[in-house]
Amino acid sequence: MSERWIDLGAAAELIDRGRITGDVDGWFVMVVERDGELHAFEDRCSHDGEAFADAELDSDPTTPCGVVICPRHGARFCLSTGAALTPPAYEPIRIFEVRRIDDRIVVRAP
Ligand code: FES
Repeated sequence: MSERWIDLGAAAELIDRGRITGDVDGWFVMVVERDGELHAFEDRCSHDGEAFADAELDSDPTTPCGVVICPRHGARFCLSTGAALTPPAYEPIRIFEVRRIDDRIVVRAP
């Protein structure tokens, strides 16, 4: 695994907008904060390859996962593992390591 960390923006931006997106070595990545924990995941739904855009976050009673819900057809993905929890998505999305360093949000390159 790479030791390079890519700066995606200011933590204040994440707080203001609820999410930050950016390019991590050619991967489109979205970072969100849920219950005080940062999550970084591939910003492409595995159902059709489009960005999650203004996707809602939720919890799932069947898993300990925080969940991102695709705004187009409602597939739910675990924020911790990337697993597809509900159809019409069946393939996972990639998860990235993310940290807050000082006032910056950084994501580990794959
Ligand atoms: S595009 Fe995401 S569920 Fe269909």
